[in-house]
Amino acid sequence: MLIDGHGRRVNYLRISVTERCNFRCQYCMPEKPFSWVPRENLLSFEELFEFVRVAVDEGIDKIRITGGEPLLREDLDRFIAMINGHKSGLDLALTTNGFLLADVAFRLKEAGLKRINVSIDSLKPEVAAKIAQKDVLSRVLAGVEKALEAGLSVKVNMVPLKGINEDEIVDVMEYAKARGMTIRYIEYMENVHAKAGLKGLTGKEILFKVKQRYSIRKIGREGSSPAFNYVTDDGYRFGVIDPHKHDFCESCNRIRLTAEGHLIPCLYFDEAMSIREAVKSGDIKRATEILREVLRNKPEKNRWSEEDSEESSRAFYETGG
Ligand code: 5AD
Ligand code: SF4
Repeated sequence: MLIDGHGRRVNYLRISVTERCNFRCQYCMPEKPFSWVPRENLLSFEELFEFVRVAVDEGIDKIRITGGEPLLREDLDRFIAMINGHKSGLDLALTTNGFLLADVAFRLKEAGLKRINVSIDSLKPEVAAKIAQKDVLSRVLAGVEKALEAGLSVKVNMVPLKGINEDEIVDVMEYAKARGMTIRYIEYMENVHAKAGLKGLTGKEILFKVKQRYSIRKIGREGSSPAFNYVTDDGYRFGVIDPHKHDFCESCNRIRLTAEGHLIPCLYFDEAMSIREAVKSGDIKRATEILREVLRNKPEKNRWSEEDSEESSRAFYETGG
């Protein structure tokens, strides 16, 4: 079992397999970054797997693959099969924008993937295209249908933005609800990479819109999830994620690994260490030591609350959200 320096049990690893993305969402990566990490610096699936093995043997039982857009890495199902082959019964999930999903959904499921989170910010093609700065909607929706058909459990993420998609909060809920999917509304988190002037709705404003259609009841947080859950009068459960609150740090159970091999204990890079050399030389002992040290140094609270500005310098696409 892995316990961090503040007594929290850590069982959840998020792996960002690439920072690249084929969308340019206004709230995340509206412009192509000045430079990408050179491809030769990316760890191969074999190298990433060396670390995953160590982490699972130490007590990680929940793994989420993120990006950037993880499906941009070819044969992602191969990586998933490697992880699943090491230990079955892991909670294996993927966060994707859905654009490349339709063609690979069945392969991912067969490889051992259990769950998918897809962003759907709008059901209007032109609004979706405005947010992602690309005509994406029909392919994303086709991806979701295939994932459901393949038997994957699918959650929808929506970031409500003022004057852009705030009128669709209930519509996207209805879309998810009709397909047995949970929706989670994520408060927009201001960051220096995002498009200037973008304004998100607060959790309260989001709930206000839902309440125009349903009466709702609070359920609360479940386990270590950052989402606060609610249920509508007709029994549909949904969540709101408020990154502006810091109360979920208390039960934080996660660490992050980037495609280059930085192991990050919290949202920020500050206490990160690299597992790169250890996995490249197959030094399991060293990889284990690094994992334990990063956990010892995992901060109690995320640094965002200590920053002077209201804006985070952290890039979602680097650390995988
Ligand atoms: N604020 C809130 N959510 C964000 N995401 C990406 N950038 C931001 C941001 N600035 C969300 C996307 C996606 C998930 C991976 O992260 O909506 O669902
Ligand atoms: Fe890409 Fe996801 Fe960021 Fe959009 S939010 S630019 S899909 S990584």
